[in-house]
Amino acid sequence: MNSSITQAVIDSFKTEFETALTQAQSLDELELVRINFIGRKGKLGSVMGQLKVADLETKKTFGPILNTLKQSMQQAFNDRKDNLAQLARDSQDNQERFFDVTAYKPSAHHRGGLHPYTHVTNQIQNIFLSMGYQILDGPEVEDESINFEGLNIPKDHPARDMHDTFWLNLPGKLLRTHTSNIQVHTLKNRKPPFAVVAPGRCYRHEATDASHDYVFMQTEGFVVDKNISMAHLLETARKFLNALFGRKDLTVRLRPGYFPFVEPGVEIDIRCPFCTKGCSVCKKTCWIETAGAGLIHPNVLRYAGIDPDEYSGFAFGFGLSRLAILKYHIDDIRLLHTGKMEFLSQFG
Ligand code: PHE
Repeated sequence: MNSSITQAVIDSFKTEFETALTQAQSLDELELVRINFIGRKGKLGSVMGQLKVADLETKKTFGPILNTLKQSMQQAFNDRKDNLAQLARDSQDNQERFFDVTAYKPSAHHRGGLHPYTHVTNQIQNIFLSMGYQILDGPEVEDESINFEGLNIPKDHPARDMHDTFWLNLPGKLLRTHTSNIQVHTLKNRKPPFAVVAPGRCYRHEATDASHDYVFMQTEGFVVDKNISMAHLLETARKFLNALFGRKDLTVRLRPGYFPFVEPGVEIDIRCPFCTKGCSVCKKTCWIETAGAGLIHPNVLRYAGIDPDEYSGFAFGFGLSRLAILKYHIDDIRLLHTGKMEFLSQFG
């Protein structure tokens, strides 16, 4: 029997294979092409089978041609496979890179929102920016000398007892107990006049309850210039608190308060914005403590290299956590430091 193998047959077989390769648009489709053409029972196998039974002349002529064809088909298949695999990876990448952030998701359960701290911090910053203050930041891991000595609280000073401190396993390092460290950094590094507001996290090693946690937020603020007085402090506090609570007529009261880094030192209270006769928020007292404050102590200015005869300043430390609790009627400070979605999702 004369073989049906001819160059024309081989050429058309080759073309058929190449067309099938390009038409395969996925690795699955490509696998079918492989089975169909070069697999054990594929078309190439049957052409080879024909060669086996062909006459010697045909074997001699087409044997090497078919061997080369076999290799080149395998090579073309491998190339196409690499190519499709790369396309698959690219499209995966693109899907990840160009995901649609606006895609509609029918469930309302996982809507993102801002933390109450973020809301209050933004409001505080905006109010002070509108009064010409700069916003500064400072380290939470602090040096004892900045957190205490620079603020006129030397070692063994009884005021250190009020600051139950988290000491680190590094000599002289602690987690700042108040944002007043930013006063020291700023006084040391900048030339007055300046007006700064600096919100941030603080830490105290104390037992927790509904109104205390070992982590909380304060916002420090201070102004240093010539002839700064308590009048500036009082008016600033009044403007700030009214703006924060969206009021015009909040009553602000100063009481004497002791902080080693201010003289005189005061506590700033507001008349409860939620009642006239006493309520659970003000614990029936009608007054709410909001801040410690005062005129910056000459020792603090001197420590930082500022001449207290030339400059004076006021400083305040508002309890930012407390302001957030008041604004949003939160009944336990510890909720602010959890990831509880039932709580957080209320603030949008
Ligand atoms: N740092 C003080 C505290 O944490 C608050 C304060 C700040 C008091 C600035 C006076 C001036 O209690």
